[in-house]
Amino acid sequence: MSMPRREFLGACMAAAASLARAAERMPLNTKVVSLAEEETLRQAAQRRGIKVGAAVSSEQLLRDDSFKAAVLRDCALLVPEWELKWATVCKGPLQNDFSGFDAIVRFARENGLAVRGHPLVWHAAMPDWALNEIRNGNAARLLDEHIRLVAGRYATRVFSWDVVNEAIKPEDGMPGGLRDTPWLRALGDGYIERAFRIAHEVDPTARLVYNDYNMEYEPAKAKAIVALVKKLKDKGVPLHAVGMQSHLWTTRRKLDLPGLRDFCRAIVREGVEVVITELDVRESDFDSSAEERDRRIASVTGAYLDTVFAECVPRELVLWGLSDRYSWLSKPKFNPENPQGLLNRGLPYDREMRQKALWQVLMDKIRSVPLSGKQI
Ligand code: G3I
Repeated sequence: MSMPRREFLGACMAAAASLARAAERMPLNTKVVSLAEEETLRQAAQRRGIKVGAAVSSEQLLRDDSFKAAVLRDCALLVPEWELKWATVCKGPLQNDFSGFDAIVRFARENGLAVRGHPLVWHAAMPDWALNEIRNGNAARLLDEHIRLVAGRYATRVFSWDVVNEAIKPEDGMPGGLRDTPWLRALGDGYIERAFRIAHEVDPTARLVYNDYNMEYEPAKAKAIVALVKKLKDKGVPLHAVGMQSHLWTTRRKLDLPGLRDFCRAIVREGVEVVITELDVRESDFDSSAEERDRRIASVTGAYLDTVFAECVPRELVLWGLSDRYSWLSKPKFNPENPQGLLNRGLPYDREMRQKALWQVLMDKIRSVPLSGKQI
């Protein structure tokens, strides 16, 4: 039943007067912000079934207050940048040090965040003693023991595991486009299935991920990863998601967006999810203005997310760091494009912890995803 016009106008006038009185009482320095400005990446993402996360170190969380504040504002998920790697946690056969990831897990629990385990099986960041064991015929025992040790220690406390990391490299010329690693040489391609089955046995609650990079730039690699996923799923291997590391380039390489679209479709068609696990943007041109560089970084990321989000809603959207302050891409040993060790601007916050265009494009693209109605 509608309200008589005169009564309706009177009610509007009374409401306007009440708002004016409330505004007068508000302290002058209060910036009246819209919900949009207050919303964080974490909040916007959670309302769409996405966990936004970042790679961190325990030291950053415990020693850097401004960084910690940004993590608590924008992240629902943390992943150890290096503190769960074999070389860090198992420096010797019986010399284990889990203190770094333990601290990250504790911080996450105390602050209502989830954690990712990264990685269980990788060819890199391996200590020499383990490589020798693999080469001396003890690869199967070593693989089993490591997964049981690490995944067992954190069973039920890890949201998802990168069980096998970067096993595909077609240019190595191995069958199936597999990377020529000590694991492959010792155990054949069965090491991948073995790793997933043991990880699932040790922690049935965790989502198990195959993690790799450059599927958005290299069609042959994308094809080989899809073939690997299909082979694993056909054998009933407990593989839940493919992690696209998403280390993007601004200028040096051009995104293969049709290829990325087809890759996401093919993975989803296998009944496997797609998650974003290490998003950042590698610069090659450090001479342009910061504004132009930030614009380019936001633009390539926006195009990437538009393509992925058109095909699926990743339950994890993890950045490989939150601030340029700690980006691996500013270190010459990791970034041959940056021999002088210039600051790479490929993360959402700058060195002073100010939000950049990339932060806004993440927010805009997350908001382009329909609300899922379920909080995660
Ligand atoms: O800071 C410690 C220092 O305290 C310690 O004494 C020293 C002893 O080794 O290590 C230092 O840590 C280094 C760490 O980066 C922080 O700079 C490690 O040596 C170094 O190996 C580590 O490199 C990491 C690399 O993976 C290898 O683990 C990078 O930070 C990390 O960004 C990079 O991340 C990889 C992903 O795991 C997989 N995808 C590609 C990605 C980039 O390469």
